[in-house]
Amino acid sequence: MSKKKILGDFQTPVQLARNVISRLFADGIHWERILEPTCGQGNFIRVCIEQGASVREIIGLELQQSYVEKSKRISSETVQVSIYQQDIFDLNLATSLQWNTLSPLLVVGNPPWITNAEQGRLNGKNLPRKSNFQKLSGLDAITGKSNFDIAEAVWLKLIREFVNDPVTIALLCKTSVARKVAQFVLDNELHVNSMSLYRIEAQRWFNVAVDAGLFALELNQGDISYDVAEFDNLLDARHTRTFGFHGRKIVADLDSYRQVESLEGTSQLIWRQGVKHDAAKVMELTYRDGILRNGYGDLVEIETDYLYPLLKSSDLQSICLGFVPRKYVIVTQKKVGQQTVHLRDHAPKLWRYLNSHTDQLDSRKSSIYKNAPQFSMFGIGEYSFQPYKIVVAGFYLPARFVVVSGYQGKQILVDDTCYSLSFDEEWEARLICALLNHPAVSKFLTSITFADSKRPITKGVLERINLKAVYDQVNIDKLTNSTTDSYGKSVNCDRRNVEIQLRLFEGDE
Ligand SMILES: C[S@@+](CC[C@H](N)C(=O)[O-])C[C@H]1O[C@@H](n2cnc3c(N)ncnc32)[C@H](O)[C@@H]1O
Repeated sequence: MSKKKILGDFQTPVQLARNVISRLFADGIHWERILEPTCGQGNFIRVCIEQGASVREIIGLELQQSYVEKSKRISSETVQVSIYQQDIFDLNLATSLQWNTLSPLLVVGNPPWITNAEQGRLNGKNLPRKSNFQKLSGLDAITGKSNFDIAEAVWLKLIREFVNDPVTIALLCKTSVARKVAQFVLDNELHVNSMSLYRIEAQRWFNVAVDAGLFALELNQGDISYDVAEFDNLLDARHTRTFGFHGRKIVADLDSYRQVESLEGTSQLIWRQGVKHDAAKVMELTYRDGILRNGYGDLVEIETDYLYPLLKSSDLQSICLGFVPRKYVIVTQKKVGQQTVHLRDHAPKLWRYLNSHTDQLDSRKSSIYKNAPQFSMFGIGEYSFQPYKIVVAGFYLPARFVVVSGYQGKQILVDDTCYSLSFDEEWEARLICALLNHPAVSKFLTSITFADSKRPITKGVLERINLKAVYDQVNIDKLTNSTTDSYGKSVNCDRRNVEIQLRLFEGDE
C-alpha cells in the first residue's frame, strides 16, 4: 500500500479519461501527437486511440514495470504507440523523445497527487532531482519549500522543458496545484495563451476528499493571457467564473473583483498572526471546575500569571457576548526571542511543568525553534497585550471580524490559525471592525480568495484591504449611527473620532 501511495498510484477510471479526452478534443485542436508522461496502465492512451480521430503517435512513460507491460499490450492500426519504462525526473521530456513528426502535441495524464512531506513519512524518494531543479528560476523555490506536491513539480518541469514549443498540457491535479502553476506562469511571464480549470468529483472517481480538476494550459499558440476559465464540471459548456491576477496578486473571481477593485491596496494597520508554539498538548490547557488540564488529560498546577485565554478559528465562528474561553495558552515570553530562564525563579511551578515536557518542546520540528531560547513561542509581541483586538479566523469564508477585549483581566490571544489587529482604544477597534464587516469588504475578500483553499484568509489577504479606501466608500453617518459589531453591540464612534481616524490614515500614506 505504501508503494502505491508513494507513487501516487491511482489509475484514472476509463470513463473519466473519456470525459477528459472528449472535453479536450471538443475544444478544437486536432492533436496528432500525444505524450502521457506517467501513463500507468494506459487508460488515457486507450481513450486517445478510441476518440482522437486526428491522433497518429502516442508516447507513454511509466515507472512501474507491471504497468509498462500492460500499456505495451495496447495496439492500434492507425496510431503508433510507444511505451517506455522511465522515471520522468531523469530526462528532458521535450528533447529526449523520438517523434516521427513535429505536428501539434498534447501532453495529457494524471501525475501523482502526493506531497513530498507525505512521501517523506512513507520513506519515498520519488522527487525531482535537486541538481536539475536548482538551475530553474522559481523551481528552486518549490524544492526549497518544506512541502510541495509532486504534481506541481511535474507541471513545472513540463512547462519549462516545452517553454518554446506550441504545446497543450492538460493534467488532472488538485485545484491548489493549478493555482500555483498559474502563478508560476505569470511570475515568469511565460508565453501562455489559454488556461482552463474543469472541476471533477475526486471523491466519486478516486475516493479522495480533495478539490481537483483537469487543468489545461496552452503554450505558444496565440496572444498571451493569464486568465483562467473555471468550469464547475468537466462537461459544462460554459465557464462559471474566471480567476486570474491583479498585478502579481491572485484573484479568485475577476468579474466580482472588478466591482470592488478600488479596495485593493495595502493595509494601513499591521495584521498579526496569532500565537504559534507547535506543542498544543503541552501549551494549551482547558479549565473546568477549577482544574487546569493539558492535552494529555493531566492535571496542571502552574502560576496563572503566564496563562492567557486563547481563541481558535472555530471559536471565532460562534463567539458572542458573554462567551467563556474554552482554552488557555501558556505564554513564556513577552516578545519573540526573549530569554525564558527567569521563569525558574518567577514561576517555579511553570518551569517544572515545562521541564517535564522537554521531550515534546525540544523536538519541535520547525527551524524557527532551532537557535531560539528553550520553550520559545512565536506570534507574540507588545501587540499581543494591547487591550482591544479585532480578530478573524483563517479557515472560514465569509470572513467575520470581531472585537475582543479582556477576559477576567487578561488579554485574549488567538492561535496561529487566526489574525488580529491590536488597539489601545475601544472606539478605534470598533470603528475599524465596522469597516471590515462592511459588505464591500466581504465582497472584496470573497473575490480574491478561493473557498476551497485550506486557509482562505491569510495575513497576505488581509494586508490587501486598503482601509482608507473602504472608509472613503462607506456612508460614514450610516456607519456611525446604525452599524453594530459582531456581538450585536452598536458601534459607538462619533464624527469627531472618525475624523481623527481619517487623519491617522492620511498620516500613514
Ligand atoms: C495517478 S497515477 C495515474 C496513472 C495514469 N496516468 C492514469 O491516469 O491512469 C500516477 C502514475 O504515475 C506513475 N509514476 C509515479 N512517479 C513516476 C515517475 N517519477 N516517473 C514515471 N511515472 C511515475 C505511477 O506509477 C502511476 O502509475
